Amino acid sequence: MLDKSNLPRHIAVIMDGNGRWAKKQGAMRIFGHHHGIRSVRETVETCAELGIQYLTLYTFSTENWGRPKLEVEGIMQLLVKTIREEVPQLHKNNVRLKSIGEINDLPKKARRELLEAIDMTKENTGLTLTLALSYSGKWEIIQATKQIAEQVKAGVINVEDVNEQLFAKHLATEEAPDVDLLIRTGGDHRISNYLLWQIAYAELIFMDDVFWPEFRANHLYEAIYSYQNRERRFGKTSEQVVATQTA
Ligand code: FPP
Repeated sequence: MLDKSNLPRHIAVIMDGNGRWAKKQGAMRIFGHHHGIRSVRETVETCAELGIQYLTLYTFSTENWGRPKLEVEGIMQLLVKTIREEVPQLHKNNVRLKSIGEINDLPKKARRELLEAIDMTKENTGLTLTLALSYSGKWEIIQATKQIAEQVKAGVINVEDVNEQLFAKHLATEEAPDVDLLIRTGGDHRISNYLLWQIAYAELIFMDDVFWPEFRANHLYEAIYSYQNRERRFGKTSEQVVATQTA
């Protein structure tokens, strides 16, 4: 059973394995991306039901632009279709949609759909669902650094004012708390330039035997259960953590 008093506030997911899953069925890679939508829907619904506050999905990385043109176009079309079909239900479920990444790089139609959906759901107070699109952690850190450098140059802040809190406010994730739980499907054990700053103390869960199109609510429960059974020490000793828990 999950402990409702110890849920991760922010879950991030690297939805990997669509291409390999499709290949296993003898189908084109885009078939895997299409089947990944059911997993997205189920993950979002389960997070909303559980009362998770933030869910951030790695939907398209900066590096993904280098994939074959046909696949990139297919994913962009799928993005438009998914937003159109899913957003009314998200809105009903009080989900607030956001995005992080260089959305000016997206095709005009995809950008428009996305911005409209973000605007439509902006007052919602339930789960914040963030799609990372044309996103990379290094890109985000450089953006933040440039903004801060501009402010120092303009005399708005002093170099001495730059600290973790200030830096985090300039990241694309803005007010979202750091990631508590990062899940990666597909069997690879790497971070792939995702939320580099925000995962500093995240618990990492790699689901080796699950390709993203196979990911279901029970896998999410399993990951949260595993998270709840880990001791998060944040650099302290186990004794210190136990002492603060029992204080
Ligand atoms: C990684 O699998 C997946 C992607 C790069 C795209 C993820 C996109 C979706 C699930 C569909 C769109 C989602 C939304 C929210 C609209 P891969 O292609 O790298 O798989 P592989 O490692 O097996 O090649």
